[in-house]
Amino acid sequence: MKTHRIAVMPGDGTGPEVTVEAVKVLQAAAQKFGFKVDLTDYDFGGERYKKTGETLPDSAIPELRKFDAILLGAIGHPDVKPGILEKGILLKARFALDQYINLRPVKLFPGVETPLKDKTPEDIDFVVVRENTEDAYCGMGGVSHYGTQDEVAVQTAMYTRMGVERAIRYAFEYAKKRNAKKAWKGLSDDDKKAGKIGQLTLVGKTNVLTFLYDLWERAFHEIGEADYKNVKRDYNHVDACCMWFVKNPQWYDVIVTGNMFGDIITDLGAMIQGGMGIAAGGNINPEGVSMFEPIGGSAPKYTGQNVINPLAAICSAQMMLDVALGETQAAEAIEKVVMDVTGTKMKSMAAGRMGYSTSEVGDLVAQGVADYKG
Ligand code: IPM
Ligand code: MN
Repeated sequence: MKTHRIAVMPGDGTGPEVTVEAVKVLQAAAQKFGFKVDLTDYDFGGERYKKTGETLPDSAIPELRKFDAILLGAIGHPDVKPGILEKGILLKARFALDQYINLRPVKLFPGVETPLKDKTPEDIDFVVVRENTEDAYCGMGGVSHYGTQDEVAVQTAMYTRMGVERAIRYAFEYAKKRNAKKAWKGLSDDDKKAGKIGQLTLVGKTNVLTFLYDLWERAFHEIGEADYKNVKRDYNHVDACCMWFVKNPQWYDVIVTGNMFGDIITDLGAMIQGGMGIAAGGNINPEGVSMFEPIGGSAPKYTGQNVINPLAAICSAQMMLDVALGETQAAEAIEKVVMDVTGTKMKSMAAGRMGYSTSEVGDLVAQGVADYKG
């Protein structure tokens, strides 16, 4: 029997509560689909930092590299100054493990309320491929004359051809794979006649960031032209993209964008798919170890109340099975069961208003997986 070794980092606030439910579902899937999960817990987070001053120690990196995947709850503690845990744990893991893709599906499940009037699951179903190791996240810059009237702060956004290219290639491959069975429904007849099967939209700011996004745009078209002729190419400025997310989300199939723009537009994406309670993501190194996490934060005010929505964590574990562990049948089953739970059982995706507790939602999904008939 195949055993998957998984590092579990529940983290802060409600992270541990939702992680327990994700693990519950993983175990149900393992039982059902005939594999094993070997879990190792790590206590990196705000509490450990407060006690020991340690975030993610260097020594943990080679250890984490040995796992098949990492499951993360949430990082962020109300008593710790913003930036310390984010940089010291989350960004450190992403960078040190070279998780150069942040994969964030924006999919409205049945029964889930979207703030967009008249939009249905038919309209909201796309994926954002966010570059995850460069941009203003790279940590280049500094400050002089700190705290004086003469203070100067500089923080540089940088992109390398290599970094841009690997993100773009991943996104084209993703678009190709996503539409291999059935071409994306947003294509025009002319596109279909021209042999297109899907669409990749580059989101940038070529009108202002004329160095950065010029590099992206050239790489995008060169790679698309050479290797992905069957994927239609589109481009949006990031501000316009925010507008279209709200007005015409059905225009999107797969999006590729930089780290900072990807961070921002995926919070908007999370809202139109029903909120932080349901939005999942993966920090992916296709050649190494990947880390899966809900895209929302630690929601400390709900800690310990058993009211937070665990579906984002459950869907992150689902993505882990699909993308990192090759358990595609189990992943498909979990997704179907989650759609059934949102469509026929839960009242809302919001904390405290689900009609169920955190652990009851986990039970519903785990039971659904155990009873899954395909
Ligand atoms: C996210 C978060 C992080 C980011 C923060 C916590 C560093 O907002 O995963 O989207 O900006 O990437
Ligand atoms: Mn974010």
